Amino acid sequence: MKIAVLKEAAEGERRVAATPETIKKYITLGASVAVEAGAGLSASITDADYEAAGASVGSREAVLEGAGAVLGVQGPDPASLQGLTPGALLAAALNPFGQRERVGAYAALGVEALAMEFMPRITRAQSMDVLSSQSNLAGYKAVLDAAAEYGRAFPMMMTAAGTIPAARIFVMGVGVAGLQAIATARRLGAIVSATDVRPETREQIESLGAKAVFAEGLEASGTGGYAAELSDEQKARQAELVSSHIAKQDIVITTALIPGRPAPRLVSDAQLATMRPGSVIVDLAVEQGGNVEGAVLGAVTERHGVRIVGHRNVPSRLAADASALYARNLYNFLSAFWDTEAKRVVLPDDDEIVKGVRLTQGGKVVNERLLT
Ligand code: NAI
Repeated sequence: MKIAVLKEAAEGERRVAATPETIKKYITLGASVAVEAGAGLSASITDADYEAAGASVGSREAVLEGAGAVLGVQGPDPASLQGLTPGALLAAALNPFGQRERVGAYAALGVEALAMEFMPRITRAQSMDVLSSQSNLAGYKAVLDAAAEYGRAFPMMMTAAGTIPAARIFVMGVGVAGLQAIATARRLGAIVSATDVRPETREQIESLGAKAVFAEGLEASGTGGYAAELSDEQKARQAELVSSHIAKQDIVITTALIPGRPAPRLVSDAQLATMRPGSVIVDLAVEQGGNVEGAVLGAVTERHGVRIVGHRNVPSRLAADASALYARNLYNFLSAFWDTEAKRVVLPDDDEIVKGVRLTQGGKVVNERLLT
């Protein structure tokens, strides 16, 4: 089976879907790998590195010719896949809810599209979970981005010229990104508090040495380890909690998401105005509509003297590590379904992982989450 690795075309996307490490592993399985020229440059991987790992390097047309699987970070423009053999696999973070038309176009091309962000959250699939690997890095980077915008230090410092107080950081949404944000902020010496709507996160927050800030009756666990949307009454209770806590914070990092829905609004403009000038908010949910009123996608803005950071594609800001982890997630997925005799990936229809990620098959959209 020939595996094609695409150069990402989306603006600002610096990651790549395979590294020399994973290419060697695909070749050991019995695959051949072709990488589009320049695919790894923005993640500090040269074409020569790929060639040294055993891949061929060429134009998109050349790498797609005869490929049985195509790997990407984001979904490629369907028009750029013309000439791909029908039935070929396309594995990438395809953003199925945001790019439904594209999914239809992949089906029309006869491509079997596999959305990596639909990986079920089961133990067997943990090493294939791109949302986790990328969110973890985003949580870390969010704290560094906050530090870069903040005109003060994070740790308490006792100096001959006097004492600098520790920064107070509030993390809202304690999934994978939030947990890493707590750990990173703690390592930098900040005083950290955090909140979520899933009650099991209380213990996780405390185990990282942060203070759990929860409102009574504010529980909204959904399925698969995800949150559900709050009722209006719960939303009001959460707003009260935020209002009483946020004015005492120097940095707020928001990460709250609900699968398939716009990000919940957690911080209003009025609440933001109670923070002291020079405070910083990083909204990691800005691409899904934002947790913070006034957050602007792809920009750092200021309201009431508070900086609001709305960087796009935060994992891509750590392109080398993000690519290394993403590439391993993809390898772990494809190699789990490698048929050693046929020397290709064979995806069984009745497998829970396959049912989760497969969007299209035989020219049709087949994924339950897109059909309902
Ligand atoms: P996510 O990115 O969907 O959401 C981030 C966080 O925001 C979640 O903790 C969610 O509860 C929280 N949130 C949603 N609405 C909120 C609101 N109104 N106010 C405050 N917080 C709100 O979640 P993520 O990071 O993808 O993971 C969620 C959980 O899934 C993890 O903590 C973990 O327990 C589980 N998980 C399981 C895996 C596995 O078994 N393979 C892999 C990764 C995660």
